This record gives sequence, C-alpha cells and structure tokens, in this order.
Amino acid sequence: MESRYQAVYQHWQNDPEGFWAEAATELIWFKPPDRIFDPDLGVYGRWFVGGETNTCYNCLDRHIAAGRGSERALIFDSALTGEKKIFSYDAMLEEVQAIAAVLKNLGVAKGDRVVIYMPMVPEAIFSMLACARIGAVHSVVFGGFAAHELATRLDDLQAKVAISASCGLEPGRVIAYKPLLDRAVDLAGSKPDHCLILQREQLPAELWPDRGDLDLGQAIRAEKMAGTQIACEPLAATDPLYILCTSGTTGRPKGVVRDNGGHMVALHWSMRNIYGVKPGEAFWAASDIGWVVGHSYIVYGPLLSGNPTVVFEGKPVGTPDAGAFWRVIAEHDVKVLFTAPTAFRAIRRDDPDGDLVGLHDLSGLKALFLAGERADSETLKWAERMLKVPVVDHWWQTETGWAIAANPIGLGALPFKYGSPTLPMPGHSVEVVDDAGHSQPAGTLGNLVIRLPLPPGCLVSFWNADERFRAACLAEFPGYYKTADAGIIDEDGYVFVMARTDDIINCAGHRLSTGAMEEVCAMHPDVAECAVIGVSDPLKGQIPCGFLVLKNRVARDPPTIAVEVVDLVRLQIGPVAAFKTVMIVKRLPKTRSGKILRGTMQKMADGLPWKMPATLEDPAVLDEIAEILERNGYMHAPAPTG
Ligand code: COA
Ligand code: AMP
Repeated sequence: MESRYQAVYQHWQNDPEGFWAEAATELIWFKPPDRIFDPDLGVYGRWFVGGETNTCYNCLDRHIAAGRGSERALIFDSALTGEKKIFSYDAMLEEVQAIAAVLKNLGVAKGDRVVIYMPMVPEAIFSMLACARIGAVHSVVFGGFAAHELATRLDDLQAKVAISASCGLEPGRVIAYKPLLDRAVDLAGSKPDHCLILQREQLPAELWPDRGDLDLGQAIRAEKMAGTQIACEPLAATDPLYILCTSGTTGRPKGVVRDNGGHMVALHWSMRNIYGVKPGEAFWAASDIGWVVGHSYIVYGPLLSGNPTVVFEGKPVGTPDAGAFWRVIAEHDVKVLFTAPTAFRAIRRDDPDGDLVGLHDLSGLKALFLAGERADSETLKWAERMLKVPVVDHWWQTETGWAIAANPIGLGALPFKYGSPTLPMPGHSVEVVDDAGHSQPAGTLGNLVIRLPLPPGCLVSFWNADERFRAACLAEFPGYYKTADAGIIDEDGYVFVMARTDDIINCAGHRLSTGAMEEVCAMHPDVAECAVIGVSDPLKGQIPCGFLVLKNRVARDPPTIAVEVVDLVRLQIGPVAAFKTVMIVKRLPKTRSGKILRGTMQKMADGLPWKMPATLEDPAVLDEIAEILERNGYMHAPAPTG
C-alpha cells in the first residue's frame, strides 16, 4: 500500500485548524469548541477553546454507549504474581466510578491535585480515570522514585489526596511503598488530607486512620455495593487533565501540564494513523504508568480509540525469562507492542538466538514501536529478524506527549532508514538550527526545534510556572520549541536524533537528570565538588557515573565515602537513578572560567575521540581522569585529537 503520509502531512500544513477540527469530530464533546486554536491564550496559544468534554467519558462511556460495554478494555497480566484479569468497559466503568465516588466523598473537586504513587496494577489506571471523570488533576509518580522526590512533588502540586499501594513487586523482592509514602508525607510541607492505600497480599501495610489513611480496596467495595454512579464532570477542553513531573536541568522537576481537549484528539488520531490499530485490537505499551509512554499509550491512547490495553507487571527478562513478552503477545493477541530499545537489548542478551521466540504464536503481531532513547541498529535489526514485523523507531518526549517523528504504519509505511525515526508527524514542523537560531541545511548537525504553535496533545505549560516554561523551552529560539535534542534532517526530510543538548541522560529508557544527581552528591559533608556524567552502557544505553573531589583534610576512607554517596542518591532520588559508579578524583577538569568539562570526560569514558579544549585550566588533569577511568575499567581514547 502506498503511504498516505505526504497527502496527510500536506493537508495539515495547508489547513492546520481544519485538520485538527476534523480529527476532533471522532470524539464526544458536550459543547463544541468556539475556536479550534486561539493564539492569544496561554503561553503559545490554546487548542479547542470554548469546547467542553470529559476524557474519561471518551475512554469508557462512549464505547459503552456504542454497544461495546462487554468488550475487553483492560488486560492485566502480572508475571510476578501470575495473576491475569480482563476488565470490560462495563467492569472498568464500575471500578472507576467507585474510586471517583471515594474521592468525591473525601472532598476532592474539579482542579484539585491527586498524587498517584502505585505499581502496575489496574487500580492505578482506574484511579487516573477517576480523577479525569471528576475533573481532579492526577500526577503519577513512578514507583522507583524515593520518598524525597515524592515529597517534592506533593509540595509542588499541593496535592489534596495521595493514592498508593502497600507494596510494589520487583523481581526477587517486595518494595514496601507505604513507608516511602509516609516518609514523603513527613518531609512535605504540604501534606495531603488523605492517603488511599491499596492493600496487596504480598505485604499489607499498617494504616494510620488518625493521619487520614484509608483502605482503597474496602472503599471501592463499599461504593460498588451501593451502586454509586458518578457522572462525568463537563470540563473545558483547556482544563488540565494531568501533571507529569519530569527531569529538568536542575533538581526541581518540571510539571508538564496536559489539557483535556487537545490531548484526547491527538492521541486518538495517533492510534489509527501512527500505530495502525483498529478498535478492538489489543495494544501493549510495555512501560510504566509513571512515564509519559504509560500515560499516553497504556492509558489514554488505547482507551480513547477503543483498543484493549495490556497492563503488565513484570520485566522483559527475569520474570521468569526472556520469553515473557512473547507469552503476553500470544496469550492476549496483542497487535502492536511498544517499548524502549533497552528492553530488547535485555531480551537479546538473554536469548541471542531467539529460542524463546519460536515457542509462542506471534502471528497476530503487526508492528513493534520503539522510543525513549536512540534505537541502535543492531537491536532494531535483531527485533526485525525475530518478529518479522515492521520495527518502528519513533521520537518523542514527555513534553510532546506523542510522536514528533515516526513512520506512520496506519497511513502506510514509508521507506525505513536505520538510525532515523523517519518523518515529522502532522502538527510538528521540525527544523535544525545552529546555536544562534539560524536554519541549517540538510545533513548539518544542530538543535532540533519545532515551529510554534505546538500541536494538540503537547504540554501547555509547566505547572504554575509559565515563565519557567518560556525560559526553558521557548526563549532561546524565538518562534520555536526547543526539544533539547541535537540531530540532523537529511535531504529526504528524515530526522536523526543524536543526543541531548542538556544534562539529561536516558538510562534503561528512564529519563534522568545528572544535574539532580550532582545536587545530591554535593550534599555529602565530605564532598567538595562533583560531576555526574552519563557513560555508554550496552544494556541501559547510558548509566550515570559520578566523579567526586573530597574536601581537604578528609581523613575517612574514600571507598566508604563513595558507598555513602551512592546510598544518598538512592535515598534522595531513588533506585531508578541506577547510580552505582563513583570515582574519587583529586580535581575536576575545568575551563579557565571554572566550567567543568563534562562533555570531554564523557567522550573519554566512552572511548570516543576527544579534543583538548583550548580553554582548559590545566591539561594534566585530563591525564589523571584518563588514568582513573582506565583503572575502573572504562575505555578512553589514548590521546586527544586536533
Ligand atoms: N518500583 C521500585 N523500584 C523500581 C521500579 C519500581 N517501579 N522500577 C525499577 N526499580 C528499581 C529496580 O529494581 C532497580 O533496583 P536495583 O538497583 O536495586 O536493582 C533500579 O530501580 C533500576 O531499575 P532499572 O534501571 O529499570 O534496571 P533493571 O535492572 O530493574 O531493569 C530493564 C532493566 C532494561 C529490564 C528495565 O529497565 C526495562 O524493562 N526497561 C524498558 C522499559 C521501560 O520501562 N521503559 C520506559 C519508557 S518506554
Ligand atoms: P522522555 O521525556 O522520558 O520521553 O525522554 C525524551 C528524550 O528521550 C528525548 O528528548 C530524546 O533525547 C530521547 N528519545 C526519545 N525517543 C527517541 C528516539 N526515538 N531516538 C532518539 N532519542 C529518543
């Protein structure tokens, strides 16, 4: 089939508002928008102004009204407990209404923030939809973050209620979530009125009713017994649906705000046209609801477009083996799988010849989509060989909420180029500019930017921080959104995303800020100075690596200090930071103006060619760094070039 991409992209270019107005007609509006786009509202304009809708209505009630109530809506599969459960739209609505009722009884109203800190269990998704139903704004915090990170978010968001579980399950161990939540509440200046706790049998938690703790399961059962029905709150298209905090260039997270109207229109469009799934076909984003991929493609995208969504508690390997993904695909008839390249690197490492692939019937699978980090060609080709379906690398960010560039299978696949997430999607006009903002010719490496306005579905701002959003994303290149990714657009318009231009690293598909880790390292009383860089890792893509300079006259054992610093990062940020490597150095390489040369250190650690910076204060320091890298098993280029 010839791809309709060019015609569709051109349609959007010629008439952006008409394009999105048409896409919006597929969803239910309680009141149609007065204007499709108003450039004078918000930071860069707002979509579907004057329209009223409800995202939960479009995810559940709409399908039930269309007679699909008994069809599969959510497939829960835990490789850690062996539990499997399928919820129809009818069943899901009952659960969601019950949680909505519980929240309302606790006084949660439209606009109130609810923090959700949960493992991958159906109640996490029901809680998100319950918030959407009553107009409360959910903010999901990934379970791998520690109490301190959670406390920062409780404070930033002034959350009225927190929803959590007694525990999460990681391979070989049970993670007690409740004590982490308790500690976060202790640390937070702004404390939630109530904590709703889902008791899991693997490790029930002690509840403190005098502190506002409630048993979520019990409360749901009571509302279901009473048959409570909660109608969908009519919300402005421009009202916030959720806030998702993501790593910024400092320790303070950025609260990415997503609206109701634009978000549902964009995600609905993407399911048919990018992922190419028809209603009823099962879709599986093997991610976590704590990340944007989970928000968009475990929860909202599939539910909006009527695709059963797989909620998987487990890992690509070790639960129990590298065949877990194939089992889930075969058992639940998954048509499209979406995950991070790191998951496939892990599977390939454990099952290089794909012996486990052949044990399952994967004939229903139509495509594999990868995102979250650069997809290396070797992994991509391996996945193609094993699965015999198109393997689509696509590029997006927490901020954009859906793909900036992709190969739109639904519109008909375009020719693939390894290393490229293909072409910009409608709504995204992508360009490469130099640091001064000048447009660059094809094939030139530079800053990847998106011409404003951003399309529906992208962030509208940072929570309570319009100025910070302007300064971080819009100020440097006027008229554009700065992606903070560097890349190339070739003569065919194909985008190649090469690296971040800031301190963000991608570790196992998780977005982490090395700046935030430096802030924590610097808290240790014996540390005078530090630098954290991302070094290449064959499994996780990148892992953080810390260089510490100790204070003068510190008499304590350096390896003990290194262990304490690792523990501190784990305690403050969480295990997800994967911060395990620390090297104690005498000094850090700096320019004469005092800037630490993190980029040079990173190149040395990765064994890439590096140049002796002209402004280096003392060249001998790089020899010291090279020596310590070598001692710690890192490759370094023996001599600088140029
Ligand atoms: N709750 C508590 N702890 C968690 C957690 C959670 N939800 N998720 C991860 N952790 C912990 C892990 O147990 C690990 O702890 P450890 O240092 O004590 O071993 C630590 O955080 C680091 O986790 P991670 O970097 O994910 O490493 P891993 O070895 O557990 O798994 C992969 C590696 C590649 C298998 C896994 O990261 C993966 O499947 N990633 C791809 C899918 C994905 O989630 N992508 C997100 C965007 S699409
Ligand atoms: P996150 O906000 O966690 O989704 O991370 C977004 C960042 O991940 C982007 O800015 C990129 O640096 C990186 N990323 C996501 N998808 C891709 C991709 N397909 N190719 C290269 N990098 C990617």
